[in-house]
Amino acid sequence: MELEFKITGIFRTSADPGPAREAILTLLKDARSTILSKGAPEGKGARITSVDVDTNGIAINITSDRYVRAHDAILRLRKPLAGLLGKEHRIGIRGIDITQYLVTIPSEQPLGELKIPYVNSMEYTQGALVLSLDVGLSEIEKRIPDRIISLIEDKVTASSYGGKGEHWDLLWSSGKKAHQFNKDPTPELVKLGWIKRGASRGQWIHGPQSTAIFRAFEHIVIEEIIKPLGYREMIFPKLVTWDVWKRSGHAKGVYPEIYYVCPPKTRDPEFWEEVADYYKVTLEVPIDKIASKIDKPIGGLCYAQCPPFWPFLQGETLPDDGFPLLVFDRSGTSHRYESGGIHGMERVDEFHRIELVFMGTQEQVLAHSEEMQKKYMHIFNDILDLEWRMAWVTPWFMAQEGLTGLADKGSVGTIDYEAVMPYKDEWLEFQNLSVNGDKYPKGFNVKSQSNQELWSGCSGIGLERWASALYAQKGPDPDNWPDAFNKIVGELPEGIRFL
Ligand code: SER
Ligand code: ZN
Repeated sequence: MELEFKITGIFRTSADPGPAREAILTLLKDARSTILSKGAPEGKGARITSVDVDTNGIAINITSDRYVRAHDAILRLRKPLAGLLGKEHRIGIRGIDITQYLVTIPSEQPLGELKIPYVNSMEYTQGALVLSLDVGLSEIEKRIPDRIISLIEDKVTASSYGGKGEHWDLLWSSGKKAHQFNKDPTPELVKLGWIKRGASRGQWIHGPQSTAIFRAFEHIVIEEIIKPLGYREMIFPKLVTWDVWKRSGHAKGVYPEIYYVCPPKTRDPEFWEEVADYYKVTLEVPIDKIASKIDKPIGGLCYAQCPPFWPFLQGETLPDDGFPLLVFDRSGTSHRYESGGIHGMERVDEFHRIELVFMGTQEQVLAHSEEMQKKYMHIFNDILDLEWRMAWVTPWFMAQEGLTGLADKGSVGTIDYEAVMPYKDEWLEFQNLSVNGDKYPKGFNVKSQSNQELWSGCSGIGLERWASALYAQKGPDPDNWPDAFNKIVGELPEGIRFL
């Protein structure tokens, strides 16, 4: 079973096209070997399966494969038909009506109930999904059918991956190490008073000791990566609008996991007075009233950290000697609406991450990724002494669009860094390093002086994750930490005392 398109369309004419009948039939007959197969491999393309020249138009049925899709075929016929009718017969084409459009997409299984714009129905029969599309000329011109097909094909691919989950290939492993600790560290840290749950879901308040450890991690990143490689610090926004997520691809899939941001409909105090008054009298915050007084979401809280940096470069051309461009951000939190259930510090809705972004030519970006890998190798082996491994996984930017598998271009992809959590014999992703190909420079229209293709990459260092890896393997007692790390930490600050 192959991808197949069947369209029924009518070219509406300004007068009876009868007198042009023979010429029309000849044009449409010749079309098969000319306009309807142009650009397609030998023997492929679109075919006209029936023509009916009526008093008010020309009705045709077209069947095609993926090469010259039936809706493109209709568009391709418009001009030659209009030329023929206009020149010799003074008849105009008023428009094209699509009365039926069926698309058959091979799939090993049905996809379940879906609500997709312009899809009237979707049925599963004999190894394929048959979609009935409700589209007109304007939708065809806007390439809506093509996007529907890609969407369904992505869903079919994802469903055939089934339980196989995301792609994962081991790249390197430190090998087994002995661990000084085998408990879940979070309750231990709570007992020690280093951290406490925040008021919000998956949020922690870090006491002085836990904070000192985060700062020690930052110190390592600054001394081992930022300074020697020449990264410059920037401050990326932490409220991300739809426009940014449209360009980064997040608009394709991030919805279940973002914290949405809604501005007030107005900042007029009178408009809000009843909310404040309601609270003052009842001591309850009237959230339904609030819901009616706020606008639709303008975006969400920082999720992937690097996307809101890119508007800084958007539409710009950078000098060749400015590459590789290396910048980082550690100016605020990232937020993800995590799965329910109780999690420890390793899985949080609000987290702290150092995000490193690099951009340059393909060679520069690939070389830089190698350099970063060496730096990380040194940190995790010689300073933190972790049991860890690296895996080649579905690129983060694809995963965040809801895709599985790997990127098309070789060398574009994500390395996940994982540490074993001895208390549950599971591996925790504690940071990643990615080559994102041309996705970002292209998406944000960034150019180089010499017009060479630009690539970029990024690496997210999750401080909660580094901490979880360290504590899970070595516990919270500095006596069990490597000397190299203790030297950086120094003496831990005193915690807050309670009576
Ligand atoms: N932006 C990347 C991610 O979200 C690295 O932090 O995974
Ligand atoms: Zn990133």
